Amino acid sequence: MRVVILEDAAAVAQRAAEIICRQVQDNPQSVLGLATGGTPLATYRCLVQRYEADEVDFSQVTSFNLDEYVGLPKDHEQSYSTFMHQNLFGKAGFDLNKCFLPDGTAENFEAACDDYERRIDDSGGIDLQLLGIGTDGHIAFNEPGSSLASRTRIKTLTERTRSDNARFFDSVDQVPKLSITVGIGTILDSDRILLLATGKSKASAVRSFIEGPVSANVPASALQMHPKVTVLLDEDSAGWLVRADYYREVEQVQRELETSPKS
Ligand code: F6R
Repeated sequence: MRVVILEDAAAVAQRAAEIICRQVQDNPQSVLGLATGGTPLATYRCLVQRYEADEVDFSQVTSFNLDEYVGLPKDHEQSYSTFMHQNLFGKAGFDLNKCFLPDGTAENFEAACDDYERRIDDSGGIDLQLLGIGTDGHIAFNEPGSSLASRTRIKTLTERTRSDNARFFDSVDQVPKLSITVGIGTILDSDRILLLATGKSKASAVRSFIEGPVSANVPASALQMHPKVTVLLDEDSAGWLVRADYYREVEQVQRELETSPKS
């Protein structure tokens, strides 16, 4: 796991955008796994800027979002579909026919979940998966206790997640209780994973998933089992890491290796 501690949230967004753009520049037909929530917003703004500056072309990209609230129609103000259209797809030249989110209003959820997994497989699998992390250690909406081998399914949100997300709604009562989410097994099948965390509220979850044991109690800890994970942290979210100095040292060496002229 490559743990990169950066100065602040803006630096996290810049670096994340750089990694995503490089992926798409190297392979314009990349399959991206995308996240919603407060954390990736600044990254999406950077992607829009890079698109507007003609640095990157997303028109051939296929994308799969991690999750959606059950019961919210696509055009609901707080649906993740609306979030993605407002913050990225509609502003950065994505082909909407290639942008997929789980359907929170499906008539048959089991079939919709199987179909979502099949679509990901048919696309060739996710090249780069972007993740945030919940204060309880969830990734996508895989709450503590989720099977580390789980696939796309319906998941009940914890009270903590619902109260964390209440800031996007008028009140906590309006936050849906159920979500449709890709599983931890689905995420681990991605070729590369990029997790972002910013702010003091994430410090405990960040410490647990990077330095604690692999456990269903901390779903993000499953990432320890994946060979290509990069974690971008600001100083606040990295504040509880015991080996922070070591990660900084490793990163400095890594950056030197990457920027040194090849013989
Ligand atoms: C959203 C998602 C969630 C969020 C997490 C953190 O698609 O999958 O796991 O990444 O809840 O949310 P924020 O970024 O709002 O703190």
